[in-house]
Amino acid sequence: MALNHTFIMIKPDAVKKGYIGPILNKITASDFKIVSIKMTQLSKRDAEIFYAIHKDRPFFNDLIAFMSSGPIVAAVLEKENAVDDFRTLLGATNPEEAAEGTIRKLFAYSVGENAVHGSDSDENSLIEIQFHFSQSEIFSEI
Ligand code: CMP
Repeated sequence: MALNHTFIMIKPDAVKKGYIGPILNKITASDFKIVSIKMTQLSKRDAEIFYAIHKDRPFFNDLIAFMSSGPIVAAVLEKENAVDDFRTLLGATNPEEAAEGTIRKLFAYSVGENAVHGSDSDENSLIEIQFHFSQSEIFSEI
């Protein structure tokens, strides 16, 4: 199978708790290669655009407030089957339902503040990567 890519964000809750290092260790120990990475903070407008697909959901305003509340770490990961394999490593959206050993089981405490985002499809991963990174910041062929 060909190598492909997924977009991830370490969210403000996990950055605040000092989990950047442990989460990146878990990711690289699971055979994902980091081909782009930056620490940044989303404006409210950035978060609204990034999560536009959820704009009619009851949790949208809370999601935007939370995601723009502090720094995040955005990264592009490379691996065979990157999107699906990362979602398996990530665990269920609700940490209470996440499998043992997954990132959300280890580092997240609520459905709203769930430590890490991962793209849900190859199509969305490309959109999300291009939203956060220019080609010169990505050290692989996307
Ligand atoms: P993420 O994978 O980043 O994509 C959408 C986000 O919306 C999700 O993670 C959660 O953080 C958030 N979310 C999903 N469902 C709920 C919910 N019921 N209440 C609050 N936030 C939610």
